[in-house]
Formats: sequence, C-alpha cells, structure tokens
Amino acid sequence: MVMLIDGKQIAADIQEELRVKTEELNAKCIFPCLAVIQVGDDPASTVYVRNKKKACEKIGIKSLSYELPEETTEEELLSLIDELNGRSDVDGILVQLPVPAHISEEKIIMSIDPAKDVDGFNPENTGKLLAGSKCFESCTPAGVIQLLKRSGIELDGKECVVVGRSNNVGKPMALLMLQENATVTICHSHTKDLPEICRRADILICAIGKPKFFDRSYIKEGAAVIDVGIHRLEGKKLCGDVDRDDVMDLVSAITPVPGGVGPMTVTMLMFNCVKAAEMHAGLL
Ligand code: GUN
Repeated sequence: MVMLIDGKQIAADIQEELRVKTEELNAKCIFPCLAVIQVGDDPASTVYVRNKKKACEKIGIKSLSYELPEETTEEELLSLIDELNGRSDVDGILVQLPVPAHISEEKIIMSIDPAKDVDGFNPENTGKLLAGSKCFESCTPAGVIQLLKRSGIELDGKECVVVGRSNNVGKPMALLMLQENATVTICHSHTKDLPEICRRADILICAIGKPKFFDRSYIKEGAAVIDVGIHRLEGKKLCGDVDRDDVMDLVSAITPVPGGVGPMTVTMLMFNCVKAAEMHAGLL
C-alpha cells in the first residue's frame, strides 16, 4: 500500500505546536514578530506573502507588512532592512524573492542580520549548516526532513538522491540529509545517466522545476519520493516534478502536489520565527 505523505496535516500539526509555544512565550512577555517585505506586485509573490501573514495570524506571531513599489531603489530597501535589523521588537525579516531586476538579490540577502534571517538564506546561516552548527535552516528542505521523520521514514544509512542544486533547496537539502546520516548524491542538469542514479535511491528528492519529468524509469521499487516541484498545467490543474500516476505502483511513499511539500515551507518559516524570538530572549 502506498503511503501518501500528508503535508497539509503535518503542517497543521506543527502549526498547532507553534501556536501553543507562542502562547507560552506570550505568558513570559515574549511576542514573536516577523517583518515581511514585498517589492513590486508580482501576483505569485502576493499570494505567498498573504499565506505567510495568514500563518502568522493563526499561530499568534505578530507580522509587520511592508509593500513597496516596484521603483523602490536598492538603497531604500537596504535602509529599511537596516532599520528592522536594529529594532529589538522584530525577530525575523523576510524579503520576498524575486526582487525587481535593478536590486541585487545577493546584497539584500547579505544585509539581513543572520540572527533575523528566518529564510536561512544568508551565507552565515548556510555556512553554519555546512559546518553542522546551529542555524536557521532553509524552510523548504527543513520541511522535507519533517515530512519524512513524521511519516516514520528512516533516513539513517539510506541512499538519498537529491535532483536539483539550487542554493535554497537542492544544496541545503543534501546537507540536511547528510546530517541525518543518509548517503547523499546530488544530481543536476549535467549528470550523466540520471535515471540510473535515481534508481539507486531509497529516498528520491525531486527539485528541478520541470512538470512530470520523473516517470517510473527513475524509481526503484519501494522508494520514498519527495516532489518539491509545483506547476500549473493548462486547465489550471497543479502537478509536480514527478509523474505521479506513472510511478504510483512502484513507490512505498510519495508526497502529493498540492498538499505535500508546499504547506511545509510556510510552516518552517513560522518555526524559524518562533526560534528567533526564543533566541533573542536568551532562551536558546
Ligand atoms: N520566493 C519563493 N520562495 C521564497 C521563500 O521561501 N522565501 C523568500 N524570501 N522568497 C521566496
């Protein structure tokens, strides 16, 4: 029987745990607060930002909203981040990406105080992840680890293949799986004989951004498959990087799209905000 990994339920469970924890922090006069900055009005970003603010509200995290016009200069954005870095009532700062082309994404990421970098994108946090020290972990890969652990899927000693090497997903994903004592292979667009390598995987993590790319030729019987992709097909139906209908009879567990990895990204952002507040209060 295939296990459908229920990201919606697991996200709801973690959010409830965070709500309780936030209540406990409030009782100690600690009020977690996230500043959310969006530059321009990219419709996808607007949806993501709205979901993040809604999640804050549900958990009891205060959110500050900065909706800046497309023409905002890099200096203006850096100046706002600088102000928020200095505010003791702000625990986390999130700049929704992508930023307009005239603003350097790298500069923006570097300017966020690593202690408030709840996205886990600042090189100080990614460097700490590499070194195996405590840090803010990138939310999507941290969410994948939670999905696997809370579904009772063993990671220790398993063959894990991560397909995709982005800074925000593929690379940190591989490091987190390594931390869990998996044997990790990272594949990418130049990998030779990708299906053969993927067929080694006990756990296959697909994060390449190509709709229904992974069919049964990539799957070992009994593998757990994590689908990080999300795409809107013509006719509005959503799908992932995995051709789920084609692989379903081979896998032992799989994340659906939607309702798999998606709900975990915002949930782990909330997790990082609560952790930031605890750190700033000297509790961690
Ligand atoms: N744009 C798409 N995903 C993300 C994310 O996780 N964080 C930020 N800051 N921007 C994004």
